Amino acid sequence: MVRYGPLLALVLYFLANPVWSDDSSDTKQVEHDEMKLHTDVLKEYNSDMRPVRDHKSAVTVKVRFALKYLSFDSSEEMVTVHSWVALNWNDAFLTWTPSDYGDINEIQIESHEIWTPGMALFNADATSYNSDSFYTTCLVTNTGKVTCVPHLAHTGICRTTLKRWPYDVQNCTLYFGSWMHTGEQINFTFYNLKPVVLDDFQNGAGWKLLNVVNERLPGKYNLNSTYPMLKYTFMLRREAAGLAAIVVAPSVILVLVTLASLLLDVKDNTRLILLCFSLFGHFTMTSEIGYVVPKLSTDTPIILLLVRDSMIITLTAIFVTMVLMSLRKQVVPAPAWIMTLNRLVSIGPGKYMVFTEFDPSDGAEGKIVSEDPRTEEKSTRSASDWIKFATVLNNLTFVILLFVYIILICTCIPSDK
Ligand SMILES: *[C@@H]1O[C@H](CO)[C@@H](O)[C@H](O)[C@H]1NC(C)=O
Ligand SMILES: *[C@@H]1O[C@H](CO)[C@@H](O)[C@H](O)[C@H]1NC(C)=O
Ligand SMILES: *[C@@H]1O[C@H](CO)[C@@H](O)[C@H](O)[C@H]1NC(C)=O
Repeated sequence: MVRYGPLLALVLYFLANPVWSDDSSDTKQVEHDEMKLHTDVLKEYNSDMRPVRDHKSAVTVKVRFALKYLSFDSSEEMVTVHSWVALNWNDAFLTWTPSDYGDINEIQIESHEIWTPGMALFNADATSYNSDSFYTTCLVTNTGKVTCVPHLAHTGICRTTLKRWPYDVQNCTLYFGSWMHTGEQINFTFYNLKPVVLDDFQNGAGWKLLNVVNERLPGKYNLNSTYPMLKYTFMLRREAAGLAAIVVAPSVILVLVTLASLLLDVKDNTRLILLCFSLFGHFTMTSEIGYVVPKLSTDTPIILLLVRDSMIITLTAIFVTMVLMSLRKQVVPAPAWIMTLNRLVSIGPGKYMVFTEFDPSDGAEGKIVSEDPRTEEKSTRSASDWIKFATVLNNLTFVILLFVYIILICTCIPSDK
């Protein structure tokens, strides 16, 4: 305080004796017509009251949105629309005769000096400040026509449906109207011509505006009063190319890896290695999708279900492969039902389905084993039975898993319609 003492004294001195006060009497503003008009028009004006001469008549407010920009917040529950909102109404008290004021037929008045309609956003995000009133300069004509074009950002709540993510289309709706006045007091309507203008619109990050639909809800709830609302529905499509490259294509590739490894021979270790690699890839994919999918949504993106189910299938394939590997190493005689099954498959039409006869490795193995001494002939035959059985099972597994995958792919791959 001590340090600033002299400075404070100086400031106080100038406040008390402004330097420009000396010659203020000389430059006293000449009252020109615009100034006189401004003073006269606002002299007895009460900006709190609706500008009508008869309290039973309505102020009709015409609204036009010129959209500039639109964005979603990161959790994708809130949509923010930036727009120039043109509001137009008739003010019964802002009228004058132009000839009295040097033929001025329109003036600019600050919006806080006159009555303005409070246009509330009903589904606003209450955590962000959305004031019903606005501050701007308005244009007033001598007939009392007032036009204000405030630049406003409205943040509304919009529930997203992420089922077809990342190819989803969202409908976000904003409802506007008067918070407390009835339609018989303040009647919000659209401009007759072009109620929504998209000429200067810029798409926000990650979204493309497809269409805007505007509708006036009459809001007739009881006999005497209406509560009209202006409803704007924004149809937005996610810009999906990047997300498809990150998520959709790799998921499909993982599915193909699992299927391809099932085509490999059970004896081939590559099969197990590929399957384990695919399982690891599935884990990586789920965590990758977890990063980019907006969490806490009401419905699950189907691509997530695809990866989850494919992970389960891959795990099943690993188990089946291990079981088949151990079956092939069996030396105890095969039970009668296995031999019956093998015979049935090899004679029935099933042999074409499971391709038993076309597996060359079985024949080769059988030949090598048949060169062995006679004493082991019995165990050789049983080993060959087991191998046949394993082949049947393997082919059956492949067909079943292929079938499951076809169903899964048909239902769970989001497509860009
Ligand atoms: C969005 O609205 C359009 C037109 O009103 C409709 O055809 C479409 O099904 C809606 N989409 C969603 C996801 O609600
Ligand atoms: C409000 O405006 C609509 C047309 O935009 C009209 O149909 C309705 O009668 C008006 N309501 C009142 C009370 O003036
Ligand atoms: C509607 O107005 C009539 C008179 O015009 C009155 O008798 C009636 O009670 C009012 N109804 C409501 C719901 O305000």
